Amino acid sequence: MTTGVAIGLLGYGTVGSAVDRLLRDRATEIERVAGSPVEVRRALVRDVTRARSASPAAGVLTADFATVRDDPTISVVAEVMGGVEPTRGYLLELFAAGKSVVSANKQLLARHGEELFAAAERHGVQLRFEASVCAAIPVVKVLRESMIANDVSGVLGIVNGTTNFILTAMAAGQDYGAALARAQELGYAEADPTEDVNGADAAAKIAILASIAFHTRVTLDDVPFDGIERLEAIDSAIARELGYRIKLIASAERLAGGVTARVHPTLVPEGHPLAAVEGSFNAVMLRGSAIREITLAGPGAGGDETASAVIGDVMTVLGTSGTGFFTHDGYFRQVAIVPEAEVPSAFYLRLDVLDAPGVLAQIARVLADEQVSIESVIQRAAAGRAQLVVTTHPAPEGRFFAAVNGICTLGVVAGEPHVLRVLPR
Ligand SMILES: NC(=O)c1ccc[n+]([C@@H]2O[C@H](COP(=O)([O-])OP(=O)(O)OC[C@H]3O[C@@H](n4cnc5c(N)ncnc54)[C@H](OP(=O)(O)O)[C@@H]3O)[C@@H](O)[C@H]2O)c1
Repeated sequence: MTTGVAIGLLGYGTVGSAVDRLLRDRATEIERVAGSPVEVRRALVRDVTRARSASPAAGVLTADFATVRDDPTISVVAEVMGGVEPTRGYLLELFAAGKSVVSANKQLLARHGEELFAAAERHGVQLRFEASVCAAIPVVKVLRESMIANDVSGVLGIVNGTTNFILTAMAAGQDYGAALARAQELGYAEADPTEDVNGADAAAKIAILASIAFHTRVTLDDVPFDGIERLEAIDSAIARELGYRIKLIASAERLAGGVTARVHPTLVPEGHPLAAVEGSFNAVMLRGSAIREITLAGPGAGGDETASAVIGDVMTVLGTSGTGFFTHDGYFRQVAIVPEAEVPSAFYLRLDVLDAPGVLAQIARVLADEQVSIESVIQRAAAGRAQLVVTTHPAPEGRFFAAVNGICTLGVVAGEPHVLRVLPR
């Protein structure tokens, strides 16, 4: 193909090779939509000699970034190589060279979005990032474009497929280690799954979603997060008994004093749309003034799924270049980040306590002193000790954790307290 639109790729791995293959497999349909053929002209890799399962056209692969940046026939580049550096620097050079960029890189955008959007705008080019959050689910497009007439007040989602796969297995009785091993065996979890299971991947995604939902910068550093590594099968079992499922929930909300975005394993009431999201699927609920609530669900990862979103963004760039529509930076507000200690949450607290008279009363008193009110209590006795599970009504997080610290100094608790958030029924 010698005429038509040429695009560049930074990266030719799982996603990059899928972009190339889908563009070729669907060439006729894409040409109909775009008005001309779209082909990958250059793709940057680390090692051009490495054996690959995908087979790019001759001369496409290069290990020299300048051949992508300086190719005058390329107007759009898809960044599908990952990493923060040198990727950030490459994007800045591409913008300066007048090229728009489509990126699948949540960590880069959640850390350096402000600098990158400013640079793209300065050079009159676009930066699009649908594939960086939930792969095939078009949540970025919906938030940025379809919700313009809405005042978005909340985003609530399951945005990491690996952890949702593990939590689904744990809900069926597996323990954490076995569920993680199974996820790795099936290719849902990386060999090093740290960023998935500790919540960092989800934190980067909710930082991006909060920024576009509320038109203010929320960076990764603004997002408190914890993961699922400390969850035990007993927590899943007790949650079920209480009528909940445990999910890793990424949430962003507008509160009186500003905005909050965070990621925590959370008890979700059965019957809630997010409780039904199983396996490696993702789902995001959006709350807005005019739309009330929208839930988008689907596969949140995978080469083809991510490539589909990358190609969608490439087509949008081609379709909107030069018009100025959606090319500018949409973050026009500066809203305060509410410290997590002030955010109200309901909690599940599991304690291993002495099975002795008065223990429950002492714990209840400490909670009451911090104005945390109890919703339910379950107690199970076992050989001189008891598992005590307390669920609370919403209270500022700082007060709840002050109460937990107080409870731990009573001398009646063994081991670490197990704390989970609870979504309202
Ligand atoms: N895979 C998914 O399901 C998925 C889903 C959503 C988002 N994403 C995002 O998409 C991006 C790509 O993921 P992937 O799974 O396709 O990764 P991958 O399979 O590891 O591919 C990375 C590609 O980038 C190239 N590369 C990496 N660092 C480079 C450097 N410094 N200089 C030149 N080339 C470099 C690699 O070259 P070599 O081929 O020579 O090694 C490889 O071709 C990441 O940001 C990821 O977070 C992936």
